[in-house]
Amino acid sequence: ALGGAGLLVPAAAGPAQAADLDPTTVPQFEQAMPVPEVLQPVCDLGLTSYYDMTLQEADAEILPGRLTRVRTFNGSFPGPVIQAVSGRRVVVRQTNQLSVPTSIHLHGGHVPQSSDGSPMDLIAPGGGSKIYTYPNHQPHANLWFHDHAHHQESETVYRGLTGFYLLTDHVEQNLNLPSGAYDVPIALRDARFDDSAQLVYEMGDFRKRQVLLANGKAWPYFEVAARKYRFRLFNTSNMRFYLLQLSDGSAFQQIGSDGGLLAKPLDVTSVFLAPGERADIVIDFSRYAAGTRLILSNAGGLLPGDPADQVGRVLQFRVTGPAEDTSSVPSTLRTLPALGSATVNRDFVLSMDETGKTMDAFINGKTYDMNRIDTEIEYGATEIWTVRNANVYTPHNFHIHLVQFRVLERDGKPVTSGPESGLKDTVTLKPGETVKLQATFTGYEGTYVYHCHMIDHAAMGMMGNFRVSKTATTGRSGPGRHRSP
Ligand code: C2O
Ligand code: CU
Repeated sequence: ALGGAGLLVPAAAGPAQAADLDPTTVPQFEQAMPVPEVLQPVCDLGLTSYYDMTLQEADAEILPGRLTRVRTFNGSFPGPVIQAVSGRRVVVRQTNQLSVPTSIHLHGGHVPQSSDGSPMDLIAPGGGSKIYTYPNHQPHANLWFHDHAHHQESETVYRGLTGFYLLTDHVEQNLNLPSGAYDVPIALRDARFDDSAQLVYEMGDFRKRQVLLANGKAWPYFEVAARKYRFRLFNTSNMRFYLLQLSDGSAFQQIGSDGGLLAKPLDVTSVFLAPGERADIVIDFSRYAAGTRLILSNAGGLLPGDPADQVGRVLQFRVTGPAEDTSSVPSTLRTLPALGSATVNRDFVLSMDETGKTMDAFINGKTYDMNRIDTEIEYGATEIWTVRNANVYTPHNFHIHLVQFRVLERDGKPVTSGPESGLKDTVTLKPGETVKLQATFTGYEGTYVYHCHMIDHAAMGMMGNFRVSKTATTGRSGPGRHRSP
């Protein structure tokens, strides 16, 4: 009864809406940024760790001194951290005590269809539960999990249903990167509140989401010792893009992206993060005197009329004092898997109605239909997908389930170095841009989705199904053959 038309019916108009909270009245840098809690397994048996989570509403102090109702994993906002190791299985039971159906997707995970948390594989509200099995047959990566119930995901993610899944392996463990208290995951997102401090959700109203949160607090501060820190940044915003910089303009290192470490660290002065993307960075605070205050600022995603002292600031670092630091960032971080040679090419065009007359969004002219397979892929095939944003004003991004891909080209220019040269599962497309991606579809047969990760656009239909099977015929078409999607 869950997957039916009922989900498509917009909520009835509620009582007259309260006025918006003026974001300029929210104090900045008053609350400490918490470090997300690591979830402990209920048991470890052989090569498997078992976890239990309850999807439930909770009240979170996002704005200083005020409580906001949110949707959470186990009451934490943002969700907890699962620490996983390649080769060790993780099994999670999710029990849905919310009033809406959910589906929990492990973003960036290489998992069987039955555990992918696909849009059509729902956990019933009011106590339904589902067991997700994550084999972790993939290298280290900064993954995250979030709701994916079709047409609900945008609102449920916005209301808080996201968590961290840090997958490590020997390659990463053998490096001497900052660790323990000096390795901090940070979920970044925006929000809009009413004057009773409750979240306001309206699909596509991203311009009004002008309060920026880091680990669930509005404009927090974070105390750091004068040494190196590793920050794993997750953009869990529905729609917001960030171009993150230090307020003194100084350099830091980017060591990783969606699918784990880059081949080599990059010296950068900014990192760009589209919704769903991750960046792994190392900042060396040893160059600052105790007492220094430094802002992690956001030079991206500022639309005309956006106040830079709101959406232009993310969090404040407060340098406390010196601390020992034996960590180091080596000049080589990993060897990326070799690119196979592709046998199939496909084209994908992302577009949406920019007149504002409808809320429809398309891939190759079609809105998502959970009963339609858009792309048939032969198991084991290596494919090149050319993805184009046909819109003039609207950015999009493109996320593929099941695989980590490589970005071969952006607007015809080869991508051989830089932040997009590692393993990726989500890629940005500014208006008019085209990217070429390469992926190998192996490991599991089954039906998965690709979609825009501006998640409001996915909810509007910018999503398609692909099916990987040993009986698909696309692989027989020979090298370089162009297939319809
Ligand atoms: Cu993070 Cu299909 O999504
Ligand atoms: Cu989009």
